[in-house]
Amino acid sequence: MKILVLSGSPHKNGTTSLLIDEFYEGATQSGHEVVRIDTAKLKINPCLGCNHCRRNEGKCVHEYDDMLEIILHLLTADAVVLVSPLYYFGLTAQLKTVIDRFYSVNSLLRESPKKLYLIAAGADTDDWAMDGVRAHYKTLCKYLGWHEGGTLLAYGLAERQDAENSEYKIMANKFGKEI
Ligand SMILES: Cc1cc2nc3c(=O)[nH]c(=O)nc-3n(C[C@H](O)[C@H](O)[C@H](O)COP(=O)(O)O)c2cc1C
Repeated sequence: MKILVLSGSPHKNGTTSLLIDEFYEGATQSGHEVVRIDTAKLKINPCLGCNHCRRNEGKCVHEYDDMLEIILHLLTADAVVLVSPLYYFGLTAQLKTVIDRFYSVNSLLRESPKKLYLIAAGADTDDWAMDGVRAHYKTLCKYLGWHEGGTLLAYGLAERQDAENSEYKIMANKFGKEI
């Protein structure tokens, strides 16, 4: 299975990066192909809502930025894993910008059912802290007609060291292994 991991963190070696490394190890051990894209490192312009794509067979007005690379992987992936630190109880702007750009290929994505997964990490320990990302994840699955693969929601992780010492490290490996 081809798995596309879309990471939204700007930290190269932060909390979610560690969880992705563990996930990667587990998933590749199970024989999957994993493509990881760090969206914060790419040049992805925000959707302008101009509907140029609607009038031009899906061609975005930003056709020369890095989104094309993501779209090519998206269309050929069997599963997509959204990974984000919690920023103001939502996904990071970097990852949300990528998701907004799904718009230009909406119908292609909706015609191609995949499994969607979510890995999110935040400093908070309150259960409600993840309500926003959990709801967004479920709504995306519903809209795209993709299957809810599952979520790994990691609480109380302010920095990488917290993840190193937590059960979430093992859980991320298992999450990848059992995907
Ligand atoms: C701008 C900003 C907003 C944040 N908002 C939240 C939040 O709403 N809830 C939370 O639990 N943690 C919040 N955090 C903490 C991060 O989610 C946490 O430090 C996470 O481990 C960072 O992951 P990373 O190293 O992979 O980027 C915020 C951090 C930043 C920088």
